[in-house]
Amino acid sequence: MKGIILAGGLGTRLYPLTKITNKHLLPIYEKPMIYYPIETLINAGITDIMIVTGGNHAGDFLRLLGNGKEFGLKHINYTYQEGEGGIAAALALAEYFADGQPICVVLGDNIIEKNIIKAVKDFEKQGKGAKIMLKEVPDPERFGVAEIVDGRLVNIVEKPKQPKSNLAVIGIYMYDERVFDIVKTLKPSDRGELEITDVNNAYVQEGTMTWEMLNGWWTDAGTFESLLRANILVSQTGANNK
Ligand code: DAU
Repeated sequence: MKGIILAGGLGTRLYPLTKITNKHLLPIYEKPMIYYPIETLINAGITDIMIVTGGNHAGDFLRLLGNGKEFGLKHINYTYQEGEGGIAAALALAEYFADGQPICVVLGDNIIEKNIIKAVKDFEKQGKGAKIMLKEVPDPERFGVAEIVDGRLVNIVEKPKQPKSNLAVIGIYMYDERVFDIVKTLKPSDRGELEITDVNNAYVQEGTMTWEMLNGWWTDAGTFESLLRANILVSQTGANNK
C-alpha cells in the first residue's frame, strides 16, 4: 500500500502564524507538524510516501525533509497543489504516484496517539472498497460525522449543524484504486471545495466502505484551540506510540 499525506491548503484559520510559513511546518511540541503523519504511515508499515503540499512555502518541505533519511526512508515523493481546492482535489494530484495500487491517505494536520497497523492490515485483506476510522468527540459539528444505524454506516455528513452522532471521521482514509475515478465525478461544495466526505459517501452507497474505531486519542491541529490541544497531548503521551 502507498501512503499519501495531504499538506496543501493555506491554513488561513491559523493566520498570522501561517503568514510566512506552511501550517504543517509549525511546531507540535518538539517536532514540526508534518513529522507526525509521516510517522503514522511508517509505523503502519507504509514507506512509499508522497506529500502533497502547496502555498508559498512548499520549498521548505524539501529543505526540512529531504529524501526522508531522518525517518529511515530512501526517498520521499512530492507534488504541488495550486490554490485550496479541497482535500479531494489535493488527493487527485497523487493519481500518477498511486499507479493503480491501494492507498492510505493521512491529512497533514491529523495526529494520533497509537498505531493504525491493524486497520491497514484489515484493509489489505478487504481488497476492494474503502475504510475510514471513527473517534468519539465532544464537538462533532467541526468534522465529517458518521451516521450509524444498527451497527451499519449509512451516511457521512460534513460539518453538520445537528450531528446525528458524536462519531467524527478522522483524517486517515484507505481507498482502492477507483478513488481517483470517484474524485473526477465530484462537484465543489458550498464552501467551494472538492470534499473527501463526498468520496467516502460514494463508497458508503456502493456498500464497500468499512470502518473501525480508533484506539487512543486523535486531534487535528488546524485551529488555535486544536493546535494547543495537539501540543499538550503530544507533550503528555507522545504520538504514534507502537
Ligand atoms: O480532521 C478531520 C476532518 O478533516 C474531517 O473530519 C472532515 O471530514 C474533513 O473535511 C477535514 O475537515 P477540515 O475542514 O478541518 O479540513 P481542513 O480544511 O482543515 O484540511 C485538513 C488538511 O487537508 C490540511 O491540513 C491540509 C489538507 N488540505 C486541505 C485543503 C482544503 C489540502 O491538502 N488541500 C486543500 O485544498
